[in-house]
Amino acid sequence: MSADPGGGRVRVRPARTSDVRAVRALTAPLAEQRVLVAKEAVAYYEGLPELVVAERDGVVVGCGALHVFWEDLAEVRTLAVSADARGAGVGGLVLAELLRRAREVGVARVFCLTFETRFFAAHGFEEIEGTPVAPEVFVELLRSHDDGVAEFLDLARVKPNTLGNSRMIHYLDESARALDAARVEGPGRAAPPPGSA
Ligand SMILES: CC(C)(COP(=O)(O)OP(=O)(O)OC[C@H]1O[C@@H](n2cnc3c(N)ncnc32)[C@H](O)[C@@H]1OP(=O)(O)O)[C@@H](O)C(=O)NCCC(=O)NCCS
Repeated sequence: MSADPGGGRVRVRPARTSDVRAVRALTAPLAEQRVLVAKEAVAYYEGLPELVVAERDGVVVGCGALHVFWEDLAEVRTLAVSADARGAGVGGLVLAELLRRAREVGVARVFCLTFETRFFAAHGFEEIEGTPVAPEVFVELLRSHDDGVAEFLDLARVKPNTLGNSRMIHYLDESARALDAARVEGPGRAAPPPGSA
């Protein structure tokens, strides 16, 4: 995917191993400010297939990743644009590519945890409360070692990371929205299994 938002042609493409240094340079200050989840270098290499970068004039100016949680659910993470390239549509291009990937792999809902509510709302995300999964899926997700999954589950051990963030979701499929609405009405959503925090 490529476009010309503001100051020059931007190309969004799958990340290569040689991009990891630039991605870490983009994300490290944001992780320090707790805007993004802090990750070890090895985690960027392990997560390479889920990572895309935005390149302008051969320079990486943005990045983002789509991490699949479950059959119908994924998360946008590691979304960052360098300070001098913001407000020109780069983040929007990266997010559009991640949502395209989400559709391609078949998920119906894309979650994010963010301070950037206006940006995500402009791209079809809406704020939610709680953890919209069935209790049996909640239990399965508890088996994950991924911090992003723990944040989605709102577990006590990651609460310090999530302070002040908003929980948002983008429905790629209207039937998924209807299912979540029914969950809010029903017994499944509000109470995670006992002892899960
Ligand atoms: C969130 C983030 C990725 C957005 O990146 P970005 O490149 O600035 O995003 P865009 O330019 O596509 O959109 C940002 C705003 O600029 C506006 N904009 C888009 N194209 C524009 C253009 N050509 N000229 C001027 N403004 C433009 C958009 O309308 C948008 O406005 P909004 O704030 O009302 O939504 C960036 O701010 C960032 O790195 N934040 C820190 C990390 C973070 O919080 N990540 C999200 C958690 S995963």
